[in-house]
Amino acid sequence: MENKEWSKRTHLCGTLRVEDVGREVVLNGWVQRRRDHGGVIFIDLRDVSGLVQVVCNPELSAEAHAAAGEVRGEYVLSCRGEVRARPQESANPNLATGEIEVMAESLAVITTSLTPPFEIEEESGVDEALRLRYRYLDMRRTDLRDSLVMRSRVTGEVRSFLASRGFLEIETPILTKSTPEGARDFVVPSRLQPGKFYALPQSPQLFKQLLMVAGLDRYYQIARCFRDEDMRADRQLEFTQIDLEMSFVEPDDIISLMDDMFARIFREALGVELSLPIPRMTWHEAMDRYGTDRPDTRFGMEIRDLSDAFARSEFKVFRTALDGGGSVRGFKIDGLTSPPRRDLDNLVEEAQRLGASGLVWMVRDGDGLKSPVAKFLSQEEISAVAGASGLTEGEVLVLAAGVAEINPVLAGLREYCARRFAPPPRERFSFVWVIDFPLFDWNEEEKRYKSNHHPFTAPSRHCMDYLEERPLEVISDSYDMVLNGIELGGGSIRIHDAEVQDRVFRILGLSQQEAEEKFGFLVEALRYGPPPHGGIAYGLDRLVMLMAGRDSIRDVIAFPKTQSGADLLSGAPDAIYPEQLRELRLRPT
Ligand code: AMO
Repeated sequence: MENKEWSKRTHLCGTLRVEDVGREVVLNGWVQRRRDHGGVIFIDLRDVSGLVQVVCNPELSAEAHAAAGEVRGEYVLSCRGEVRARPQESANPNLATGEIEVMAESLAVITTSLTPPFEIEEESGVDEALRLRYRYLDMRRTDLRDSLVMRSRVTGEVRSFLASRGFLEIETPILTKSTPEGARDFVVPSRLQPGKFYALPQSPQLFKQLLMVAGLDRYYQIARCFRDEDMRADRQLEFTQIDLEMSFVEPDDIISLMDDMFARIFREALGVELSLPIPRMTWHEAMDRYGTDRPDTRFGMEIRDLSDAFARSEFKVFRTALDGGGSVRGFKIDGLTSPPRRDLDNLVEEAQRLGASGLVWMVRDGDGLKSPVAKFLSQEEISAVAGASGLTEGEVLVLAAGVAEINPVLAGLREYCARRFAPPPRERFSFVWVIDFPLFDWNEEEKRYKSNHHPFTAPSRHCMDYLEERPLEVISDSYDMVLNGIELGGGSIRIHDAEVQDRVFRILGLSQQEAEEKFGFLVEALRYGPPPHGGIAYGLDRLVMLMAGRDSIRDVIAFPKTQSGADLLSGAPDAIYPEQLRELRLRPT
């Protein structure tokens, strides 16, 4: 019964409204559902814009009704008919086109479909592996399609915003040399130079700096990046960055430009007005108040230092921490009063799961505190804690004692408490800039300094005097944008002085020769009149994930990979033919 004759659409299914009543339309789309109500057949017809109900009434067109009798889910139809207002009682307020329907005068099947392996709009219960295997069917689902539409809007806004600010869109190589982002590289063997390999870029970092040396002034790219690292909900092996670099700028210039860009993206792609400027806090402040450099500022529960209250404590755990130069810090839990013992035990278990050796809880109880450690505390300490933390009756304070190791515990516990006791609303967007990161970290295993960001990040001007003497106190001209506790992007001002670059390489334990070998072409370029420059890169997938209210970046990528790096649709990665291996001078294992 397949009929290849078809008419081109006049409208998109999901765009019809009451204003179109009386209009003759032609629609092309997929059968979402067909319901045979005895005499009349209803078809939900879907295209990229959404759904509309098509009514096939034999009294209006016996032919269309007969054709409708043969259609199945996911057949592609061409349908002509008149738009009619639905009778009040059958209007569907949950559907954008719910007030109207199209009365079919003719209906043709353009193509048929096998029975899909899962119901297209069925939300729950369908194995993700099956969806990924048939991703082209999965993408017919409204929310996945909407996410991809939003993604396209975001990149469209980014392009037009940056073009309006004088940025040039420039592509950089995919077959390249290793970039210094610190994850494992993906490599590609060279056939023309047997035994040698290209690396896929972890980011366009080196090239964008070369573009500044070249005098191109402002660069951007929607850039594909590749990192061979363990995957998480917000990490893929290949992902996309909104990547940019600017000449003759200071951190403020980049930060305020990005504020404007984000205001534009959120306004145009989501209809949300951001209030500017996006707040900024230093890395030190973020660590003190939230225990992490990517604080979720949608909720309070800020960490406080209560060391003073315990300055003369005899309680061994606190005493040891304070004598060791550490602190006693914690927070008051929002949304939890006079909890059952089970909730408190769960908190301790959660802290242990996060790596803590222990966690102290205290519940305000009249003038005193209920706590497993109350018997070790003096009345004076109890009053000091109750006062300093502002605990009211039944409220709970959690405390950890130690040095830097308590930060991830308190940060994780804060998120746990927000999830359990006071979940923030999904639609609220809480942005924060974290600035002034330390330039170096100390790597205990390798017993050497590592760049916190990458080796081209500029130390702040006022730290230049003690670069070598006290490297861990040096802060950098760097900035991360954090949204709802997720790192959206990060960047820095780069070193444009060859001498400073050499000093930083030396602190990193890179000899002149190693530095030349690794990034020689950039180091060399920096000797040919580089402008002061800096930039930033955002994870586009993460941004769209948060905007679309999804939990995983897989939900906003057309063809994502699984946890084990497989593309279930194409079957990648896969073995290659022995001839290919031979040609590349690679031996089968
Ligand atoms: P960075 O390494 O911080 O900086 O990366 C920038 C942003 O890219 C996103 N991102 C990822 N998204 C998905 N999957 C991944 N595996 C992944 N890894 C990173 C994050 C992150 O904030 N060249 C520098 C930027 C600069 O200095 O200009 C860079 O790549 O959202």
